[in-house]
Amino acid sequence: MALFNKKKTENEILPSPKHIAIIMDGNGRWAKKRGLPRTAGHAAGAETFRRIANYCRTLGVEYLTVYAFSTENWKRSEEEVSGIMKLLKNYLLEALQDMEKNHVRFKFFGDLSRLSPELQELCRKAEMTSSQYHEVQVNFCLNYGGRDEIVRGVKAFASKVASGECSAEDLTEERFGDYLYSAGVPDPELIIRPSGEMRTSNFLLWQSAYSEFVFMDVLWPDFREKDLDEAIAEYHRRNRRFGGV
Ligand code: FPP
Repeated sequence: MALFNKKKTENEILPSPKHIAIIMDGNGRWAKKRGLPRTAGHAAGAETFRRIANYCRTLGVEYLTVYAFSTENWKRSEEEVSGIMKLLKNYLLEALQDMEKNHVRFKFFGDLSRLSPELQELCRKAEMTSSQYHEVQVNFCLNYGGRDEIVRGVKAFASKVASGECSAEDLTEERFGDYLYSAGVPDPELIIRPSGEMRTSNFLLWQSAYSEFVFMDVLWPDFREKDLDEAIAEYHRRNRRFGGV
């Protein structure tokens, strides 16, 4: 599939977008191709995440948002769901240990109340203990859905109106952003979806209004630093007009 139609300039030094978001797709197909269980694909995907998060740090990316588990992913087998949760738990335990070395700040977008109490506690700890760091912020979307996020935001705003704290007239696009999980985080300039699928799958619906989408043919476990370079190069080739001319 030809997803890039312009050539990257040789030796070009391209600044990284401030905020990159990734739909880590293709783990299941990666495993199937190798005759492995789907959980092995997720384990390989978690390794790729570690690599790419490190690389983002070296590139000076300020925010990295990853779709780790959607509100729809509960439909998967118990074995697959618990495999993903275990990978997240192991990653967070490791991240908590390495916090002083890596200086990564963690945030979690999604309704964490459906996760196990142990995982909820790890998320809370990671968010709290990393709040002092500002090098790179990793936003994990966990039990996250873009529509769910918007509905929750609308409800939170409506209850403020009902209690008389503010009036419906006060709502603006900017203010509504404060009711989302991503409050305070700039919208992603670049959203990458590997694996050849070309849809948003309920990811960052509000925040992606003017994001550049780069769809790539590589499966997430095979995604490497060069693929991120390629996505950033493609982003730089886009002419971002934000509705202007
Ligand atoms: C989508 O691929 C991937 C997921 C639903 C889970 C992503 C989770 C991880 C990469 C592991 C999380 C842990 C860390 C530490 C980041 P898919 O399973 O839908 O792939 P397919 O479309 O090929 O079946």
